[in-house]
Amino acid sequence: MPYTVGLEEPFAPYKAPSQENLTALRLSITPMNSPAPPVWFITGSSSGFGRHMTELVLQNGGIAVATLRSPSALSDLAARYPSSQLLVLPLDVRQPEAIPTAFAEALAAFGRINVVFNNAGCGVLSEAEGSTDDVVRPMFDANFWGAARVSREAVRVFREVNQPAGGRLLQVSSMGGVQGLSALSYYCASKCAIEGFTEALAAEMRPEWDVKVTLIELGGFHTNAGRNMVRLPPHPAYVDPVLKQATARSYLQVNPWMPGDAAKATAKIYKLTELPDPPLHLPLGKDAQEAVKRKAQSLLAMAESFSSWSEGLELDVPLDRP
Ligand SMILES: NC(=O)c1ccc[n+]([C@@H]2O[C@H](COP(=O)([O-])OP(=O)(O)OC[C@H]3O[C@@H](n4cnc5c(N)ncnc54)[C@H](OP(=O)(O)O)[C@@H]3O)[C@@H](O)[C@H]2O)c1
Repeated sequence: MPYTVGLEEPFAPYKAPSQENLTALRLSITPMNSPAPPVWFITGSSSGFGRHMTELVLQNGGIAVATLRSPSALSDLAARYPSSQLLVLPLDVRQPEAIPTAFAEALAAFGRINVVFNNAGCGVLSEAEGSTDDVVRPMFDANFWGAARVSREAVRVFREVNQPAGGRLLQVSSMGGVQGLSALSYYCASKCAIEGFTEALAAEMRPEWDVKVTLIELGGFHTNAGRNMVRLPPHPAYVDPVLKQATARSYLQVNPWMPGDAAKATAKIYKLTELPDPPLHLPLGKDAQEAVKRKAQSLLAMAESFSSWSEGLELDVPLDRP
């Protein structure tokens, strides 16, 4: 039997929800549609997508548990919204013990968490040869380990605390998590890591837990990401301006021009929570759409061109299956 264990579920053809399904969802009793407002747990809410999502949840009458490294960044929202709607908590996702503590504080305040917006992240501009482990490890700690720990806690709460069980895990990834981009080697590696982790996690969910997971593969959107990025000088072997990474470096200057409006994209991400059957992958932005389609087509073409290389690789004397 071919080795496909765990792959069938996330890669089954995606069926878009019909209008009847959407109507049924509004009438259903899932946590997102219960009379009680949904509770969102948001990481990295000081700026960009995290801040936009916090504001959107509050405007829509939801409850936001906004976590961030410097809570004072949300003092304006804390002054405008009551504590019954907004809880601001300090959280650096690189600190493992701080994550369960923040979830526990959110549960103590609201008794449930319906949506986790796993958004905190940062970037390092560097070619693969241009960095050392000590520089890129803190980024990996946030983008992969932080996001993975938040995911574990989210799923536990959705299954074991929420009544009824269920929840939405929104993983903020990047088109760089699908396609390696020059001068962003380690950033792409961190987002590819969360992509693989999340696909596996989604395949591990039991239907009765009602946990829905989506990887949001963002294209370029205007936020503080460019300003917050760590920039390393090009490796001496890669300074030639004709190289792809030189183009990438000039594009990703300190205040990069990004085509996308992060507030508009946040509204689309929010809409995911209204879908009864959200996609596992959502490339968002025309650049992300193109990158994902190009990658899928090229993978398919390569797999087909070389499919004959996989013929006749079975053991001559098959082992007994356990
Ligand atoms: N904007 C884009 O074009 C784009 C494209 C692809 C993917 N993304 C992803 O989108 C997500 C949000 O980024 P953004 O574009 O909104 O940029 P942003 O404005 O720089 O926001 C990033 C947020 O993550 C927080 N953060 C970073 N490290 C953290 C840590 N260790 N613990 C907790 N929070 C941390 C930042 O907090 P501080 O203020 O404390 O630093 C900030 O709130 C990231 O995962 C990023 O990789 C963005």
